Amino acid sequence: MTTFVIAVDGPAASGKGTIATRLGAAFGLPVLDTGLLYRGVGVLAERAGADLDDPERVGAVATTLTADLLDDAALRTRAAGELASRVAVHPQVRAALLDFQRSFAARPGGAVLDGRDIGTVICPDAPAKLYVTATPEVRAERRWKQLAGQGESVAYEDVLADIRRRDARDGGREAAPMTQAPDANLLDTTEMTIEQAADAARRIVEAAR
Ligand code: C5P
Repeated sequence: MTTFVIAVDGPAASGKGTIATRLGAAFGLPVLDTGLLYRGVGVLAERAGADLDDPERVGAVATTLTADLLDDAALRTRAAGELASRVAVHPQVRAALLDFQRSFAARPGGAVLDGRDIGTVICPDAPAKLYVTATPEVRAERRWKQLAGQGESVAYEDVLADIRRRDARDGGREAAPMTQAPDANLLDTTEMTIEQAADAARRIVEAAR
């Protein structure tokens, strides 16, 4: 088998994480949720009392990230998403996480990576690229339900405001902004169930094989 990389990018709560997991299962490939890396750096930086706007300091924190932290439930919270998006603007942070992501993508047989810049920066040569999106309102509703399921009670309007702020920051930053790669397949999941979205994603990837 040749190395087969599937890049899945898109904004928060677009369904890309579930789609990446399903693609990994369907094609027998390991999956890396790269958002967890940025969440890990955000949480570590906060715990260290670092100024989140200090690129050198947060970049240094990023070099200390270890895989065991990625299972920490604290990374799945709403607060961690916000911390992640703040530290992700720094090129120093992005550089510190680059090798780990590229090594994962270079696994024999291939891999699925989901994030914001996989198809544009991390794996620009990936043979299969998806850009998964949905309206902010639908994404906020999904995220709100997910947070409620985790026991985090928060108003829908606040989740929608989070989503809009993160979209603006992730899409507006200079370093590796969130954007659809020119050769990525757009998958708008607004009107889809997760089953329909996962099926559509599998068909797109099969066509690219
Ligand atoms: O995907 P998730 O919501 O966990 O990502 C959290 C944050 O991490 C994003 O809002 C984004 O700022 C950052 N991120 C990134 N590049 C990636 C993955 C995530 O900048 N490849």
